[in-house]
Amino acid sequence: KHCFTKSDDGYLYCEGVRVQDVMDIVERRPFYLYSKPQINRNFEAYREALGGLNSIIGYAIKANNNLKILEHLRMLGCGAVLVSGNELRLALKAGFDPKRCIFNGNGKLLEDLVLAAQEGVFVNIDSEFDLDNIVSAARIAGKKVNVLLRINPDVDPQVHAYVATGNKNSKFGIRNEKLQWFLDAVKAHPNDLKLVGAHCHLGSTITKAIDVAPLLLVGESVVDIFRDAAVLMVNYIDQIRDQGFEIDYLNIGGGLGIDYYHTGAVLPTPRDLIDTVRELVLSRNLNLIIEPGRSIIANTCCLVNRVTGVKTNGTKNFIVVDGSMSELIRPSLYGAYQHIELVSPSPPDAEISTFDVVGPVCESADFLGKDRELPTPNRGAGLVVHDAGAYCMSMASTYNLKMRPPEYWVEEGGSVAKIRHGETFEDHIRCFEGIRVIGTLDI
Ligand code: LLP
Repeated sequence: KHCFTKSDDGYLYCEGVRVQDVMDIVERRPFYLYSKPQINRNFEAYREALGGLNSIIGYAIKANNNLKILEHLRMLGCGAVLVSGNELRLALKAGFDPKRCIFNGNGKLLEDLVLAAQEGVFVNIDSEFDLDNIVSAARIAGKKVNVLLRINPDVDPQVHAYVATGNKNSKFGIRNEKLQWFLDAVKAHPNDLKLVGAHCHLGSTITKAIDVAPLLLVGESVVDIFRDAAVLMVNYIDQIRDQGFEIDYLNIGGGLGIDYYHTGAVLPTPRDLIDTVRELVLSRNLNLIIEPGRSIIANTCCLVNRVTGVKTNGTKNFIVVDGSMSELIRPSLYGAYQHIELVSPSPPDAEISTFDVVGPVCESADFLGKDRELPTPNRGAGLVVHDAGAYCMSMASTYNLKMRPPEYWVEEGGSVAKIRHGETFEDHIRCFEGIRVIGTLDI
């Protein structure tokens, strides 16, 4: 069951509510509209898949950091994956159990690591200097830190070229040949570090979702990658245990894709993903950590726009809407495809043409979709960009002073609640209040 469906009457519905009706009661545009029940269903798919395993679902907060959504995911039983001090603060504010939080990143700052140490979250070691900083943080906080080693699994790129990213030139994680150096370094700091696990993250779904659409259609190949990586990781875990470390956690990262193309293709599910590593995890008596972002939140949301007008230049037809790359940058930044449709039925005489759907931002890169077959919309018509729950609002900017939009969700029973205020012009002006000289330096 999917939350956004076009019904026979030609209207787009979100959990039984007409998106057009929501547009009629929301003043500001564009806005993000989520389905709360879809969040539940996505989470439930992971929870069910993980049955029989000791596990932590670490939701990757970078995908979407709406506080209400975080509180809801925490209430459902999620942990959190964090990549900055502020993401950690937000996770704590949302009530996440620090014992179910993992602090990731290749450039974690000492002050943020101190907070992580104080709160007792898991920390991934990413490099030599990172280890150094984690040791310093442990000393400053007066607490031993539970650490995982982020190892690039070096899944053979010849076999799975487009989906293998833990490669030797990655800026993240450590090379496996350095494993012994890191184990010795951890041993040298018995009062500051406790090695509890190994982590890998195979990479972003960006390329999978965009360049590798045909590969995604063969769902199997994507989960094979996870199995290949898990086999390697479990080998590392065996080696680490052989040296006397009692490590219990295997973290296989995130990265499961979603059906951005709306082709109805059968994609790997959380169950496919977990089943492919289940026996390995059980055979070593490990706790499994997973770090899904996109697959929890992307398909729960649309960016709802209003059509400002339609124009033609040269051979191109344009639908100009009020949303833009400021609110949703994935198409501009990655050439990502996100499905677009109108929220209400078009008049029978509306001509169907091929349009670029663009925003008002002063950049030729400002587009939400290219070459889309759509009925010519009237001014004021509603137009949605689908699968906008992940890496859209969290990557929004205020370019051209568009100001970040409000967010709403549809709840069970059809109520619509605002879950975030849109930023305002006044918010912008506030950044300039009370500014002053902070020092006079020698010249
Ligand atoms: N764990 C780690 C260590 C990560 O780096 C990421 C994402 C995740 C988990 C979550 O991955 P997911 O399940 O969401 O694929 N802005 C890009 C995506 C960047 C992903 C960064 N890392 C986009 O819009 O497609």
